[in-house]
Amino acid sequence: MMLSVNKQFSRHLRVIHACEKGATGVYWGHRWVAAWRYPDLVPSLTAMHGHETEHYALFGQLLAVKNSSQVGLPILWCAGGILYGVVTALLGRRAIWKSTAIIEAIVEQELLAASEFFQAHDPQVSAAIEKILLDELQHKEQAQAQSLGWATIDAYIEPMAVAGAQLSKNLAEKL
Ligand SMILES: [Fe+2]
Ligand SMILES: [Fe+2]
Repeated sequence: MMLSVNKQFSRHLRVIHACEKGATGVYWGHRWVAAWRYPDLVPSLTAMHGHETEHYALFGQLLAVKNSSQVGLPILWCAGGILYGVVTALLGRRAIWKSTAIIEAIVEQELLAASEFFQAHDPQVSAAIEKILLDELQHKEQAQAQSLGWATIDAYIEPMAVAGAQLSKNLAEKL
Protein backbone atom coordinates (compact mmCIF):
# COMPACT_ATOMS: atom_id res chain seq x y z
CA MET A 1 0.00 0.00 0.00
CA MET A 2 1.36 3.38 -1.01
CA LEU A 3 1.24 5.99 1.76
CA SER A 4 0.14 9.53 0.98
CA VAL A 5 2.85 12.19 0.92
CA ASN A 6 1.49 13.67 4.17
CA LYS A 7 1.65 10.30 5.91
CA GLN A 8 5.16 9.64 4.66
CA PHE A 9 6.16 13.13 5.78
CA SER A 10 5.06 12.66 9.37
CA ARG A 11 6.20 9.06 9.49
CA HIS A 12 9.76 10.01 8.55
CA LEU A 13 9.79 12.76 11.17
CA ARG A 14 8.47 10.62 13.99
CA VAL A 15 10.81 7.73 13.17
CA ILE A 16 13.87 10.00 13.13
CA HIS A 17 12.75 11.74 16.33
CA ALA A 18 12.12 8.48 18.23
CA CYS A 19 15.29 6.81 16.96
CA GLU A 20 17.38 9.82 18.01
CA LYS A 21 15.92 9.38 21.49
CA GLY A 22 16.89 5.72 21.31
CA ALA A 23 20.41 6.75 20.29
CA THR A 24 20.74 9.01 23.33
CA GLY A 25 19.85 5.96 25.45
CA VAL A 26 22.37 3.69 23.73
CA TYR A 27 25.26 6.12 24.19
CA TRP A 28 24.15 6.83 27.76
CA GLY A 29 24.22 3.09 28.48
CA HIS A 30 27.61 2.67 26.81
CA ARG A 31 29.02 5.59 28.79
CA TRP A 32 27.57 4.33 32.07
CA VAL A 33 29.41 1.02 31.68
CA ALA A 34 32.52 2.71 30.23
CA ALA A 35 32.80 4.97 33.27
CA TRP A 36 33.87 1.99 35.39
CA ARG A 37 35.22 -0.47 32.82
CA TYR A 38 36.75 1.57 29.98
CA PRO A 39 37.18 5.13 31.29
CA ASP A 40 39.29 6.15 28.28
CA LEU A 41 36.15 5.84 26.11
CA VAL A 42 34.12 8.28 28.20
CA PRO A 43 35.10 11.52 26.36
CA SER A 44 34.18 10.07 22.94
CA LEU A 45 30.93 8.57 24.18
CA THR A 46 30.03 11.82 25.95
CA ALA A 47 30.54 13.78 22.71
CA MET A 48 28.42 11.31 20.74
CA HIS A 49 25.70 11.33 23.38
CA GLY A 50 25.71 15.15 23.17
CA HIS A 51 25.19 15.01 19.40
CA GLU A 52 22.25 12.62 19.73
CA THR A 53 20.66 14.88 22.36
CA GLU A 54 20.96 17.79 19.89
CA HIS A 55 19.47 15.69 17.07
CA TYR A 56 16.53 14.69 19.26
CA ALA A 57 15.88 18.32 20.22
CA LEU A 58 16.16 19.49 16.61
CA PHE A 59 13.62 16.94 15.39
CA GLY A 60 11.36 17.70 18.35
CA GLN A 61 11.25 21.32 17.15
CA LEU A 62 10.60 20.21 13.57
CA LEU A 63 7.73 17.94 14.66
CA ALA A 64 6.13 20.92 16.39
CA VAL A 65 6.69 23.33 13.49
CA LYS A 66 5.33 20.81 10.97
CA ASN A 67 2.35 19.83 13.15
CA SER A 68 3.39 16.18 13.16
CA SER A 69 2.84 13.99 16.19
CA GLN A 70 5.68 12.33 18.04
CA VAL A 71 5.60 8.69 19.16
CA GLY A 72 3.41 8.05 22.20
CA LEU A 73 6.18 7.74 24.76
CA PRO A 74 9.68 8.74 23.61
CA ILE A 75 10.97 7.62 27.02
CA LEU A 76 10.40 4.02 25.85
CA TRP A 77 13.01 4.51 23.11
CA CYS A 78 15.39 5.99 25.64
CA ALA A 79 14.84 3.10 28.07
CA GLY A 80 15.19 0.50 25.30
CA GLY A 81 18.34 2.23 24.12
CA ILE A 82 19.85 2.24 27.62
CA LEU A 83 19.10 -1.45 28.09
CA TYR A 84 20.66 -2.27 24.71
CA GLY A 85 23.61 0.04 25.39
CA VAL A 86 24.39 -1.47 28.79
CA VAL A 87 24.14 -5.06 27.54
CA THR A 88 26.36 -4.46 24.51
CA ALA A 89 28.91 -2.47 26.55
CA LEU A 90 29.18 -5.32 29.06
CA LEU A 91 30.31 -7.52 26.16
CA GLY A 92 33.45 -5.42 25.83
CA ARG A 93 34.87 -2.31 24.25
CA ARG A 94 34.93 -3.88 20.80
CA ALA A 95 31.22 -4.64 21.19
CA ILE A 96 30.56 -0.95 21.83
CA TRP A 97 32.34 0.10 18.66
CA LYS A 98 31.09 -2.74 16.47
CA SER A 99 27.52 -2.04 17.54
CA THR A 100 28.00 1.67 16.93
CA ALA A 101 29.50 1.09 13.47
CA ILE A 102 26.59 -1.15 12.45
CA ILE A 103 23.82 1.05 13.86
CA GLU A 104 25.28 4.30 12.54
CA ALA A 105 25.58 2.72 9.07
CA ILE A 106 21.87 1.83 9.23
CA VAL A 107 21.08 5.35 10.47
CA GLU A 108 23.04 6.77 7.54
CA GLN A 109 21.01 4.77 5.01
CA GLU A 110 17.72 5.72 6.67
CA LEU A 111 18.64 9.40 6.79
CA LEU A 112 19.79 9.41 3.16
CA ALA A 113 16.45 7.95 2.11
CA ALA A 114 14.57 10.48 4.26
CA SER A 115 16.68 13.32 2.92
CA GLU A 116 15.86 12.30 -0.64
CA PHE A 117 12.15 12.34 0.21
CA PHE A 118 12.33 15.75 1.89
CA GLN A 119 14.38 17.31 -0.90
CA ALA A 120 11.25 17.05 -2.98
CA HIS A 121 8.82 18.04 -0.21
CA ASP A 122 10.46 20.25 2.43
CA PRO A 123 13.92 21.80 2.05
CA GLN A 124 13.96 22.87 5.72
CA VAL A 125 13.70 19.27 6.94
CA SER A 126 16.10 18.09 4.27
CA ALA A 127 18.69 20.64 5.46
CA ALA A 128 18.24 19.47 9.07
CA ILE A 129 18.84 15.87 8.00
CA GLU A 130 21.95 16.81 6.03
CA LYS A 131 23.24 18.58 9.14
CA ILE A 132 22.80 15.62 11.49
CA LEU A 133 24.14 13.24 8.84
CA LEU A 134 27.57 14.82 9.29
CA ASP A 135 27.57 13.79 12.96
CA GLU A 136 26.27 10.29 12.19
CA LEU A 137 28.97 9.80 9.56
CA GLN A 138 31.62 10.85 12.04
CA HIS A 139 30.20 8.42 14.63
CA LYS A 140 30.22 5.60 12.08
CA GLU A 141 33.76 6.27 10.88
CA GLN A 142 35.15 6.59 14.40
CA ALA A 143 33.44 3.33 15.41
CA GLN A 144 34.64 1.51 12.27
CA ALA A 145 38.20 2.62 12.93
CA GLN A 146 37.96 1.13 16.44
CA SER A 147 36.52 -2.20 15.31
CA LEU A 148 38.55 -3.16 12.24
CA GLY A 149 38.66 -6.73 10.99
CA TRP A 150 36.61 -9.53 12.50
CA ALA A 151 36.32 -10.94 16.01
CA THR A 152 34.14 -13.68 17.48
CA ILE A 153 32.06 -11.18 19.43
CA ASP A 154 30.94 -9.63 16.13
CA ALA A 155 28.82 -12.72 15.43
CA TYR A 156 26.71 -11.83 18.49
CA ILE A 157 26.74 -8.07 18.10
CA GLU A 158 25.74 -7.90 14.45
CA PRO A 159 22.31 -9.55 14.77
CA MET A 160 21.62 -7.63 18.00
CA ALA A 161 22.48 -4.29 16.41
CA VAL A 162 20.45 -4.93 13.27
CA ALA A 163 17.44 -6.20 15.24
CA GLY A 164 17.65 -3.29 17.68
CA ALA A 165 17.69 -0.69 14.92
CA GLN A 166 14.86 -2.43 13.06
CA LEU A 167 12.72 -2.72 16.18
CA SER A 168 13.29 0.92 17.03
CA LYS A 169 12.13 1.98 13.58
CA ASN A 170 9.19 -0.43 13.35
CA LEU A 171 7.81 0.58 16.74
CA ALA A 172 8.17 4.28 15.91
CA GLU A 173 6.04 3.72 12.80
CA LYS A 174 3.30 2.08 14.86
CA LEU A 175 3.24 3.62 18.36
FE1 LIG B 1 21.64 11.12 15.72
FE1 LIG C 1 24.86 8.98 15.82
